[in-house]
This record gives sequence, structure tokens and C-alpha cells, in this order.
Amino acid sequence: MITIVGSGRVGATTAFALLLHEVDTQITLIDVIKGLPQGEAVDLNHAAAILGLGTRVKGSNDYADMQGSDIVIVTAGLARKPGMTREQLAAQNAKIVADVAEQIKKYAPDSIVIITTNPLDAMVTVLYKKLKFPRNRVIGFSGILDSSRLAYYSSLLVNISPTSIVPVVLGQHGENMYPVPELSYVYGKPLTEFLTKEQYEQVVKQTIGAGAEIINLRGFSSNWGPAAGLLKMVEAIKRDRKEVIEASVYLDGEYGVKDVFVEVPVVLGKNGVEKVIELNLNPTQKELFMKSVEAVKNNLKQVPPEFLQ
Ligand code: 2OP
Repeated sequence: MITIVGSGRVGATTAFALLLHEVDTQITLIDVIKGLPQGEAVDLNHAAAILGLGTRVKGSNDYADMQGSDIVIVTAGLARKPGMTREQLAAQNAKIVADVAEQIKKYAPDSIVIITTNPLDAMVTVLYKKLKFPRNRVIGFSGILDSSRLAYYSSLLVNISPTSIVPVVLGQHGENMYPVPELSYVYGKPLTEFLTKEQYEQVVKQTIGAGAEIINLRGFSSNWGPAAGLLKMVEAIKRDRKEVIEASVYLDGEYGVKDVFVEVPVVLGKNGVEKVIELNLNPTQKELFMKSVEAVKNNLKQVPPEFLQ
């Protein structure tokens, strides 16, 4: 069973994506708002009936209904408004995430947990510190969204499908993320050989600014991209695909970094994060990567210490 904590736009859209792909027979939507998850579930079950799908959705305000989940997706928390950075949500969302962690520990102690709550790298750190699960079972959703955005913007310029581009974005899921076209490839050929310097700078800027662009255009943050990315991650785990997908994971010496969550390529399979892929960074790339890691560490200073113990 898959539980989604938080039945707002991201949670409900993700439930629909999982349902369309029949990733599990049972999805449980949980939220503190009375009626919200229950109402979403009624509507989603009608969709399943129309499409003849085998997934059933339950909505609940009781965390105990998480019992039996092998995967828990945490989308709970405040989303940023136009003009805000993700980092500004740290103090408010830390408490929400810490409370949810206690419920997961109680009702789904053997689950693999994926979180989307921003600021992502700080919030997955709170989750990890509170859950005290092994690091392979605590995953931040970010890298697949950022790297896919780099592939998308590049594809528009090079006229090649985004699926034929292997994009690399490292570090913070935030203003200081590090898109790396030099390490991104089009079937074995560096992406930089397809882009002019101006185009390179353009796609890096678009990738970093994509989240904010969505908010500035429609007043609220992304849900379709997150739902698609979460579907890819959940399928890689549920079907034990050993797929290399970017995610914010706990580094324990990889890339020369310890005790920090940042986005890097990892192998996702039935055990969650099964391997961290260490890219060969040249001195300049290493320096830019460490700048992004520092940005995560700085944002953690905005999290009340009690949520990091
Ligand atoms: C984004 O980049 C919400 O952080 C998310 O769209």
C-alpha cells in the first residue's frame, strides 16, 4: 500500500498519477483537513471506475490508516507564494514534518519515505533525524524535477527528445542548485557540444527559475511535474528497477560530503536508495558543488534545533 500524507494539489495529483499506472492496488490519502482526503478519494475512485483501473483510494484524517504502507509520500506543509524562496518556509514546515515523522515511525516503521515539502533538502533532513530510519529509506524528491527541467529546456534548443538527454543537476533544490550541462549527455556526447555559450547560460537560468516561474504565472507552485517525478520514483522502487534517478539523499562521505542531504544521481530499487552514483567532478565543478552544499547547510540554520535532533 502507498500512503500520501497531504491531500493538497501535489498529493491529489500524485494519487491520480499512481492510480493511472496501477502502481498499487491501494492508495491511502491522509490529511488533517476534515473531508479533504475523503472527498479526493471519492472522486479518484470514480476515475478508476471509469477507466477500469484496479487501484482503490481511501481518504482519512487518521494517521493509523497508514499501517501496512511500504511507501509513504510526504507532501504536507506550506507552499511558497509569489516572491518567496523555498528556503523561507524552513521554520514553519520543520514542525509539520517533525510531527508527520512521529506518525510514520508509529504506523509505518518499515516504509520507504519520499518527501516533497520545501525547502526540500532541509525538510528531508528533519524527516531523517526524526524517523531515525536507515538512510536508504529516506528520500528527498527534487533531483528528478530539476534534472528533467534541464533536459526539457535543452531539448527545445537542440531539437532532441528530452528522454535522449541525460541531465545532471546537483546540490540544493533551491536558488543555489547546480545544473551541470558539461556532465549532461546526449547519447554519449556532452550536452555542451550542442549548445552555444548563450544557450548554455539560458538553460541553466531557466532550470533554476522554473519553480518560481510557475508560481509567478499561476500563483501557486508545481504539482504536475512533482506528480510525474514521484510516479517514476515509486515505480522504480515498487518494481525494483535499479533505475538511476536524481534525488536528495543523505551523503555519508560520497562526493567528500558527510551528514548532508543534497541532490545527486542514485540507484533506486526495492530497498530505496541502493547506491549513490559519484560523478567525477573537476576542481571547478567540485567547488561549485560545494557552494551548493553550503547553501543547504546555511538553510538548515533557519530550522529550529529541536527539529534536527
Ligand atoms: C518546484 O521546484 C515546488 O520546489 C518545487 O516546483
